[in-house]
Amino acid sequence: MDYFQQKNGVVHAENIPLPEIASEVGTPVYIYSRATLERHARVFREGLKDAGKIHLAFAVKANPNLAVLRILANQGYGADVVSGGELERALAAGMKAEDIVFSGVGKSREELTLGLDKAIGQFNLESEEEGEMLAAIAAARGEKASATLRVNPDVDAGTHAKISTGKKENKFGVAIDIAPDIYARLAKLEGLDLRGVAVHIGSQLQNLDPLEHCYVRMGELVGQLRDAGHQISHVDLGGGLGVPYKPEDNPPSPAEYGAMVARITKDWDVTLMFEPGRVIAGNSGVMVTKVVRIKPGVNSDFVIIDAAMNDLMRPAIYDAWHHFEAVEPTGEKMIASIVGPICESSDIFTKEREVDRVATDDLGIFRTAGAYGATMANTYNSRPLVPEVLVDGDQYAVVAERIEPATIMAAEHVPDWLK
Ligand code: LLP
Repeated sequence: MDYFQQKNGVVHAENIPLPEIASEVGTPVYIYSRATLERHARVFREGLKDAGKIHLAFAVKANPNLAVLRILANQGYGADVVSGGELERALAAGMKAEDIVFSGVGKSREELTLGLDKAIGQFNLESEEEGEMLAAIAAARGEKASATLRVNPDVDAGTHAKISTGKKENKFGVAIDIAPDIYARLAKLEGLDLRGVAVHIGSQLQNLDPLEHCYVRMGELVGQLRDAGHQISHVDLGGGLGVPYKPEDNPPSPAEYGAMVARITKDWDVTLMFEPGRVIAGNSGVMVTKVVRIKPGVNSDFVIIDAAMNDLMRPAIYDAWHHFEAVEPTGEKMIASIVGPICESSDIFTKEREVDRVATDDLGIFRTAGAYGATMANTYNSRPLVPEVLVDGDQYAVVAERIEPATIMAAEHVPDWLK
């Protein structure tokens, strides 16, 4: 459920009609709803009410906007970060250092050091080599870094190949069959407080079966590690729960997910950690765009909009479906390919799809754009970096400004020797 609904024939974000924001801030623009973010954060937590002791770390990569992170910090969420930049953001947004988990396959020496400097709660190690590096840095400082070992369970998440992470050929974690040996070696290192294991098999999961299969294997691993004499107090179960992109999509609910987790993990006696991203942020945001013009095509009209693949990359790189709606629908429909102005055929949002009829200067929205939307935007074709707005009831604020090409140009330099 979200708070982007039609009132008097106009799509609103909470109590604000979208045309009001579009005329003040311009388009394209991302718009987030505070009430929706808070609702999703609450529903996810409630889903896990029977799962014992839990730790929730929002996957910052899904939406790193500072205002969004602040809302989640206020909901008691920590952060799952994958870079020094995300770590700094989580702290700047008010997340507590001890609630931050540092994931990511390529944490550099500098990033590991930053994590120690900031005294974050946990590092999720992706390899023995990373564990050795972190242990050496921590030991030299007379410290012990809290860590888990990320395991690759070789489970097919059944999602898009580009967002699957738990197959043995993927770069993530250490293979589950050799994990006990690696764990034993890392556990001996002076600079590490190795306290458990972590897993994440992919994103936008439509079905609980692969997750259940993966968690069963993690339970067996925990047993194996305990039999070998290790103290296991934390298991990080990652993120990945899917969200509806189409009205007819029906992914598992947080309550169904939580019930499965509670059932599988009931005897584990650990703190369970979660890294939800999309399920919190996805349907908490829309991207608003304006129609530039309609151009007749061979199979259907092209609706050329002022947003492009640089603003919302997901359709171009994952063939992702984002539901399109007119902000002031007439009730009429059209078959249209909605495309952006970028000089690539991949700059297409809908291919000959039935959508609300729109005309030049009309506003439209792409739904489910709150996760992996603005954060993946770029300035290809020297377009501005898309701004972000947060709505809260009757008020709204620009929470990320549009960055104009001139600002980006100002950071570029033609060397003297070319002048
Ligand atoms: N934890 C780890 C270690 C991850 O790699 C990810 C996502 C998450 C948590 C959060 O997963 P979520 O709950 O959001 O599914 N750009 C892609 C998605 C990439 C996801 C990468 N990892 C997209 O637009 O679909």
